Amino acid sequence: MSTAAFFAALWDDYISIAPQSAQVRALFAADNPAIVNDHVAFRTFDTGPLRLSKLEALLFGLGYRRHAPYAFADKHLSAWGYVPADPNDPLVFLSELHVHELSTAAQAILAPLLAAIDPHMGASPEVFSAGRLWPAISYSDYRTLAAESEYAGWLAALGLHANHFTVAVHRLKTPTTLEAVVERVRAAGFAINDIGGEIKGTPAELLEQAATLADRQPVTFAGGESHIVPTCYYEFARRYPDVDGRLYQGFVAASANRIFESTDRGAGS
Ligand code: NI
Repeated sequence: MSTAAFFAALWDDYISIAPQSAQVRALFAADNPAIVNDHVAFRTFDTGPLRLSKLEALLFGLGYRRHAPYAFADKHLSAWGYVPADPNDPLVFLSELHVHELSTAAQAILAPLLAAIDPHMGASPEVFSAGRLWPAISYSDYRTLAAESEYAGWLAALGLHANHFTVAVHRLKTPTTLEAVVERVRAAGFAINDIGGEIKGTPAELLEQAATLADRQPVTFAGGESHIVPTCYYEFARRYPDVDGRLYQGFVAASANRIFESTDRGAGS
């Protein structure tokens, strides 16, 4: 599978559950002949056939290589950043939830989901947009999980998708600053994640980031019950060159930690 086909399929899946991202992208399409993706992020469980070490083998198959690890102890997460063979392809940020660090109650909800995953599902890159690979959980279990780990609730309810795409602001013709990008998005009526400030990171850290709050869409839970829950958000990143003049390729853990919260149920309220 080509990376172009991989990311095109991912984008189609992503905007099917977060249509607001297509509207936000359109705000920049008129004055930018190309909108380049800085990175795409995925979430998974550290247990079972979808764990990071299994999924990253699929990225290696697409020409990606490991760049740097990240840890988010307060959220029971760890992650790797990956760089592509072709610099015009996006970076990838893949995180996984440490299931065994959660409460007994949360682990009891997750265990049957993990057991239901077809062990062959990790064989093709299409798994990254395969959605829920287990039976729908109850809305009550979703709330129990999310109260302890917003990430666990999100992943159990939605399954595998691109959690977010990210506009490379440093590759836009206009606007060129993150402040101006955020202003355009806000003026069009989309809420920005202001946890820890709207713009996370600094030029000195070589990476500034901002994100919308996640779209909210109806999701079907066990018994056919439908509830509106946060799905996916859109991010904006501006990278700066390092002392050698090369564009920074890493992530900033403190900023990423706040950006995870773009899918919190209470964000923006
Ligand atoms: Ni991101």
